[in-house]
Amino acid sequence: MTRTPFIAGNWKMNTNKASAVALAKAVAAGATSSAVQVGIAPPFVYLDAVSQVISGSSVLLGAQDVYFEGDGAFTGEISIAMLKDLGVKFVLTGHSERRHVLGESPTLIARKAKAVFDGGLILVHCVGEKLEQRDANQTLDVVKAQLDELASVPADISRLVIAYEPVWAIGTGRTASDAQAQEVHAFIRQHLATRFGKDVADAVRIQYGGSVKPDNARGLLSQTDIDGALVGGAALKADGFLAISAAAV
Ligand code: PGA
Repeated sequence: MTRTPFIAGNWKMNTNKASAVALAKAVAAGATSSAVQVGIAPPFVYLDAVSQVISGSSVLLGAQDVYFEGDGAFTGEISIAMLKDLGVKFVLTGHSERRHVLGESPTLIARKAKAVFDGGLILVHCVGEKLEQRDANQTLDVVKAQLDELASVPADISRLVIAYEPVWAIGTGRTASDAQAQEVHAFIRQHLATRFGKDVADAVRIQYGGSVKPDNARGLLSQTDIDGALVGGAALKADGFLAISAAAV
């Protein structure tokens, strides 16, 4: 089963309007290989500007978050329809900063994941353990519980991407070793197979995230069950991000 690698940049709460547009332009100009799918997720307020800059390119526009309700009195929130209006194609759910800094519960994350899927967008569902959980040998249990947030996502999961991001490796410069990452990726695929069947599990792309840089990307991306990367800090420079994309091919 060949899975087209998916390299996505999560810009988090970084850039301004001018730098977001410049970065998007440079990524769109450099992302020309059809052997790898490239995506970028700028802050909400720059989605429109970035969407215009990348239109006509192969780069997918992503959102870092969404609210699960269709519309109504939800001050400050953004709906799936609003994102689609701007050309968004994928949405992150369960990112560790939403879980652990912003305090999102598994129930809320599960609702968001279902809404993204039902809304016809690509769902990038993030899972990963904290350092104390890894040290207590709870990694696989934590990841399994976070995968189970997809319980109400239907069996057609052609639009599902999983991102494994050990929390201790995010923004710390400490990457999981190639073998540590592969072990959890293989577990994720196996768990998806029990839930959705082997064919579906074989087709789902599983990204690795956590301090992915041009110099460690090739080793990680060459692992059997690693099908791309979710890149934070290193996605803020076009050259480095494109080098990571090139390492996926
Ligand atoms: P990082 O972030 O690459 O800066 O570690 C990854 C992420 O949080 O998606």
